Amino acid sequence: MDYKEGDLGGRMRKFILGGVAFLALFALGAVIVQIQQGNINSRYDGQIVYEKNCQSCHGDNGQGGLADEEGNLGFPALNNGDWYNRPNFSVPCIVKHGKVNMQDSTLIMLGYPDLSATDVANLMNFMNENWYPNESLVTPLDIETTWRNCK
Ligand code: HEC
Repeated sequence: MDYKEGDLGGRMRKFILGGVAFLALFALGAVIVQIQQGNINSRYDGQIVYEKNCQSCHGDNGQGGLADEEGNLGFPALNNGDWYNRPNFSVPCIVKHGKVNMQDSTLIMLGYPDLSATDVANLMNFMNENWYPNESLVTPLDIETTWRNCK
């Protein structure tokens, strides 16, 4: 009698554990789908931010414009990778405060202090998706953190 009851309890536990595992997997799947959808929306919203604020100078494909023979006068390209991973070079800070150090250009870029952290995260995700597909998804929190450390 005791033995049989124990056996039934064991099967019941296995059944419940199986159910919990199944639900956990299901929930994980839902979260992954949501993250991917968030990514798609972020890129799409970022494209609008780019077209409105950046495209006129940096080109419809980030190719830049108005370069001289040495390639260093005018609007630098954003799609060519040389600027992306420079140390102490932060795109969210450039977008917020502008760029006036004349390293790449005899022109200056004014900042966009009114773009929100979400706008800039979306913008980064749009640019990354198109030109730097190995970069990971940027969140508004990442942007806030970067802004706090702008030099
Ligand atoms: C009115 C023209 C103009 C607009 C609009 C503009 N930029 Fe710029 N941007 C410049 C110029 C000029 C420079 C170079 C400034 C320098 O080197 O001192 C620059 C530099 C940059 C750089 C650094 C690139 C490098 O190689 O040094 C980044 C990144 C950048 N811009 C991103 C953006 C983004 C993102 C937007 C939209 C939110 C934007 N810019 C809008 C003119 C513009």
